[in-house]
Amino acid sequence: MKFEDIKGFAFDLDGVIADSARLHAKAWHQTADEVHSEWTPELAEALKGVSRMDSLEMILKAGGHENDYTEDEKVALATEKNTKYLKLVESLTPDDVLPGMKAFLDELKASGYKMSVASASKNAPAILKQLKITDYFEGVVDPAKLHAGKPDPEIFSLAAGVMDLAPEVVAGLEDSGAGIKSINAAGELSIGIGNQLTEADVRFADTSDVSLAAIKDKLA
Ligand code: G6P
Ligand code: MG
Repeated sequence: MKFEDIKGFAFDLDGVIADSARLHAKAWHQTADEVHSEWTPELAEALKGVSRMDSLEMILKAGGHENDYTEDEKVALATEKNTKYLKLVESLTPDDVLPGMKAFLDELKASGYKMSVASASKNAPAILKQLKITDYFEGVVDPAKLHAGKPDPEIFSLAAGVMDLAPEVVAGLEDSGAGIKSINAAGELSIGIGNQLTEADVRFADTSDVSLAAIKDKLA
């Protein structure tokens, strides 16, 4: 995709705009301890972008415990994690927008780009509100309505629809491997936050490096 083709940006939230990926990880780490699955950096990375129940399944599987809990017990574990997460989220303020991202959102708004949110998190609207950035976006895709989560393209396809744009003119930003796969499968330009995201069309080491000029440079 050429830089000039881009008309809108679809954003993942946790780890891209909000400094909340570490809070998900902290809460899941406690769940892993509770079910006696080892918490490793690889598991933490693999959980990024993955829905709440699928994350729990992955944690149980990591310790070989996938058949040790009933459906009701699994729902209870996931609910307990979410309660812990929401407790941690209470401390988030507008200062917890990741470095450079507020300036990037302002730059996009001033330049007339459309924006939408493509997060697997059911807590995304609450976090946007807490960070006081809800109004930048045309809308937020409701993950409860998805047939399949990331890496399926559905969420990023819907995020283009929210902006009334074709996928060919949309760039998606993600910090997870599953998310980059979803953007690529949706036919959008993938922008990865993190050098490990080798499948991304464009990569930045850190959110503070992201700007329109930097994206244009990398696409040239
Ligand atoms: C995002 C995060 C994941 C989280 C998922 C569901 O994709 O990267 O870590 O598990 O959302 O979040 P939720 O807030 O609905 O439990
Ligand atoms: Mg993320």
